[in-house]
Amino acid sequence: MSEQCRRFEAGFAARQGRRFAVFVDNGSVANLLLIQAMLNADRFRPGGKIGFSALTWPTNVMPLIQLGLTPVPLDCELATLNVSPRGLAPVLNDLSGLFLTNVLGFCDDLPRIRDDCAAAGVTLLEDNCESLGSVVDGRLLGNFGLAATFSFFVGHHMSTIEGGMVVTDDEELYEHLLIGRTHGWDRNLDASAAARLRAGHGVDDFYARYTFYELASNFRPTEIAGFLGNTQLPYWDEIVTRRADNFARFAAALADNDEVHRLDVGHMDLVSNFAMPVVCRDPGLAGRYRARFDGAGVEIRPVIAGNVTRQPFYRRHVSQPAACPNADLVHENGFYFGNNPELTDDELTLLCAQLRKPHG
Ligand SMILES: Cc1ncc(COP(=O)(O)O)c(C=O)c1O
Repeated sequence: MSEQCRRFEAGFAARQGRRFAVFVDNGSVANLLLIQAMLNADRFRPGGKIGFSALTWPTNVMPLIQLGLTPVPLDCELATLNVSPRGLAPVLNDLSGLFLTNVLGFCDDLPRIRDDCAAAGVTLLEDNCESLGSVVDGRLLGNFGLAATFSFFVGHHMSTIEGGMVVTDDEELYEHLLIGRTHGWDRNLDASAAARLRAGHGVDDFYARYTFYELASNFRPTEIAGFLGNTQLPYWDEIVTRRADNFARFAAALADNDEVHRLDVGHMDLVSNFAMPVVCRDPGLAGRYRARFDGAGVEIRPVIAGNVTRQPFYRRHVSQPAACPNADLVHENGFYFGNNPELTDDELTLLCAQLRKPHG
């Protein structure tokens, strides 16, 4: 990890409009590192209740469990697939944090969620691994909370093959992210921050080389991933716009299809989604549409992990599944297919044909 990684961090922070960016191996460890840094900085306390989106990827909630926090699942709205202020309200005052997933490039009323969290003293963090480039209220998703995470896995908006990022404007949290990324030592801090830490612990220059201040791991990326990131950054606008244009075509194909739940994105300025969800009105229709896509040679998958509280790991470590009827319905009646900037016009036409309501 050297010059290429540093350049990618600076370029990504500038593009996202945040002060600091910390590059790591993948989006999952970006989440793990962020939660560890929140604990190390005493911003979260062990056992604290942290809300999360029931419709998410497992490594959003796994770090909460792994690091001894208490996860509180929140159902999504069918119209946005995201947590809403209405869904958040009943538990908001019990929470110390909200680790919100911005699902599939969409969001609900995120500005209101930010304001409600601020009023209740709840720290908002965004898992933005699925929503690079989406905009609501003139602001990029990932810029509503204290910090946000990103994934650069193949198939996500930008790819470093494997890669992830944590962004924040908070200098103290940034220092904890740097310490937590690499063994708990101070070597990646700037000179004054390292000197402060050494003085506070009475560490001299010799022992500073191997003094470990906080719980950490080794999440360092390599220069190869940094190089790939730097190569990708100039394409940000192009990949975001193409995905947004593809999404607009898919949405238009679904406009007259009353067999599928309608997505409401009217409040968003830009939807940069990387997989297109289709949520049918009943399981019979879901079976028919899945067969239709299979038959057309389109690879489809469940909509993320569905209600993630029903997954075996969650049941083993936390509790019985939580009542999240909308996330259940998305899992039972839904599927998604990839939205890629390289989709050709013929492929888009084929995909739109599968989305239209069959005649007769
Ligand atoms: C919401 C969310 N969080 C975290 C991740 C993990 O990212 P990665 O695959 O880079 O580990 C993903 C991956 O798809 C995701 O969708």
